[in-house]
Amino acid sequence: METRLQRAAHLLDVPHLVVFTGAGMSKDSGLDTFRDADGVWSRNAPEDYASPEGFRRNPRAVWRWYLERRKQILAAEPNAGHKAVAALEQLLPRVTVITQNIDGLHQRAGSRRVLELHGSVHRYKCSKNCRGVPTLTPTPELDQTEPLPCPYCGALTRPDVVWFGELLPAEVWEAAIREISACEAVLVIGTSGQVEPAASLVWRARDRGKSLVEINPAPTLINGIAEVVLPGTAAEMTPALLAALVALHAAD
Ligand code: APR
Repeated sequence: METRLQRAAHLLDVPHLVVFTGAGMSKDSGLDTFRDADGVWSRNAPEDYASPEGFRRNPRAVWRWYLERRKQILAAEPNAGHKAVAALEQLLPRVTVITQNIDGLHQRAGSRRVLELHGSVHRYKCSKNCRGVPTLTPTPELDQTEPLPCPYCGALTRPDVVWFGELLPAEVWEAAIREISACEAVLVIGTSGQVEPAASLVWRARDRGKSLVEINPAPTLINGIAEVVLPGTAAEMTPALLAALVALHAAD
């Protein structure tokens, strides 16, 4: 009798795999998710901290909020889940990570092809994109609590992350569409699948007949379209899935 893990390994043993991740991927690194009971949005209003209007209303508060998040992220380490995702690159010909996370932990774990749909907390840009989208500016020191002006035009700088109501970076989005269209399977880890257009990539994969495996400790919107759901955390289940893939290759 094939176990769920073995079935998942068979589905993901393909020439081109996409790994689509959300905040749950970094939960085991000590970083909060957004919509869990103890999530970021249970303590902060997204319209105040993750919207252009919130930044316009109180740039200093938003600046400081991202400074604190960047401090937590820099103090965090990639977990066993991030490392297992990176290790997939040793097994499969092409692995592309498409992440909604802004923490850079996939890259720190060793993943070499990472598309950051929602930007990065480690990059800053001019809030007016004065020289072309995005006008990258120096990333401020962690003790810089006052918003820095753009060195080119003097407007305020801000984190290079995608806020609610903003478009995703066009070239990243187009690359993500290409990867989803070209891959044979998608492994979805740690996302509630509630935020568009990012989540639509998973439905796009299903509509194009790609194999779908999901890792999540809780029920999600994606359960219904995944061929195999592995109910567990990223840090536990992703290494177990990697081991099942290794066993599959060893049996060859
Ligand atoms: N391992 C794996 N998944 C986990 C873990 C864990 N240890 N703990 C929680 N999860 C799951 C939750 O069950 C949930 O399905 O992670 C998911 C987190 O969902 P959200 O908080 O909605 O985060 P995400 O899906 O990444 O949100 C997408 O929303 O606020 C915006 O820009 C923000 O990128 C974010 C986007």
